[in-house]
Amino acid sequence: MSAPHTFLPPSAVINPGRAAISTYVVTGCAGFIGSHLSGALLDRGDAVIGIDAFTDYYPRRLKQANLNPLLQRPGFSFLEADLIDAPLAGLLSGVDGVFHLAAQPGVRGSWGSTFQHYVHDNLLATQRLFDAASGAGVRVVYASSSSIYGDAEAYPTLETTPPQPRSPYGVTKLCCEHLAQAFKFNKGLDAIALRYFTVYGPRQRPDMAIQRIAEALTNGGSFEVYGSGEQSRDVTYVEDAVSATITIMEGDTSGAYNIGGGSETSLREIISLCEEITGIKLDVRFGSVAAGDVKRTASDSSRLLADAGWEARVDLEEGLASQLAWAMSRQAFDTAPAMV
Ligand code: NAD
Ligand code: UGA
Repeated sequence: MSAPHTFLPPSAVINPGRAAISTYVVTGCAGFIGSHLSGALLDRGDAVIGIDAFTDYYPRRLKQANLNPLLQRPGFSFLEADLIDAPLAGLLSGVDGVFHLAAQPGVRGSWGSTFQHYVHDNLLATQRLFDAASGAGVRVVYASSSSIYGDAEAYPTLETTPPQPRSPYGVTKLCCEHLAQAFKFNKGLDAIALRYFTVYGPRQRPDMAIQRIAEALTNGGSFEVYGSGEQSRDVTYVEDAVSATITIMEGDTSGAYNIGGGSETSLREIISLCEEITGIKLDVRFGSVAAGDVKRTASDSSRLLADAGWEARVDLEEGLASQLAWAMSRQAFDTAPAMV
């Protein structure tokens, strides 16, 4: 590293001075975003009931490492369970809201026989959760995805842009949004979709580009670019994604919200920035374009600004420095491939 970089903790204070303490269920609490979200809620003094099944998309020990600090904290309780058969009615009774982040993520791995995992963890699990939340009369804020836009009709992309997912994963995320609508109109479910745009930061999943770049820079391995590297993403620092998620739960909000960091950047630019930050030249190889991958994403997040005053705060260089510092501080990387 050319200069020391400090790790940015999850949002320490999102709503200072508030009196009420809430109890929230967080599904997928051992995952990347879910573990940060749980930590931020506990920082505010909220109680968190975390649920995770430790699905094997990436190694359990990485998820266990995400979870361990939470298990030490007052106000956190944890249930290892699959949402398909977890005792949801009891768990949701009397809580103030549910953050539903559990899913089978990953765009490129959703083809072929692995699609069964997307059906199980995204469709069946979400249907069961929506059913239980309708019965309990509890608000659900759930993770959708920028993937529902596919190669979008317009950039930057507004929530009103017609969805046209390009991957089976994106199809399951769009299906969850339609399920939410069906539950809203028939059972009165209060559910709001979080259309996250490529979230990054410490604990990012090991199948994602920035984490793979960080691992290659740290371990001296190579990084394979799928395609030319000209593809671009509106990347969102995890602390910003978490603050948007909590803001949406607490606000006078409805429907679906884009959550984007506001800096569309090509993969080539991200590689250059990581090289500059670390002072290390990355061994880059080029492979073919991955099926289901879109050329670009760019969020118009103005709806969330107008409805709840949220804006991304962490700029790309600061966020990348934070993830790279975290990656380098880890004892060992797990290089076991995900399903992708
Ligand atoms: P992650 O894989 O790190 O976390 C998901 C967690 O859910 C995992 O720990 C997994 O074990 C758990 N899980 C999966 N199926 C389950 C089930 N049936 N029952 C209980 N637990 C289950 O993923 P992430 O990157 O933190 O993503 C969180 C959510 O945000 C997902 O819904 C994902 O699709 C969505 N999303 C992520 C990004 C991103 O850039 N990371 C972008 C858009 C949307
Ligand atoms: C990410 C998450 O993985 C999805 O779960 C999420 O739904 C999606 O964001 C979203 O915003 O909706 P993606 O944008 O594909 O998906 O993010 P990365 O996995 O980090 O990939 C970014 C780009 O880097 C893609 O073009 C990908 O093909 C490329 N890439 C990734 C590589 O070239 N090499 C790799 O080893 C990994």
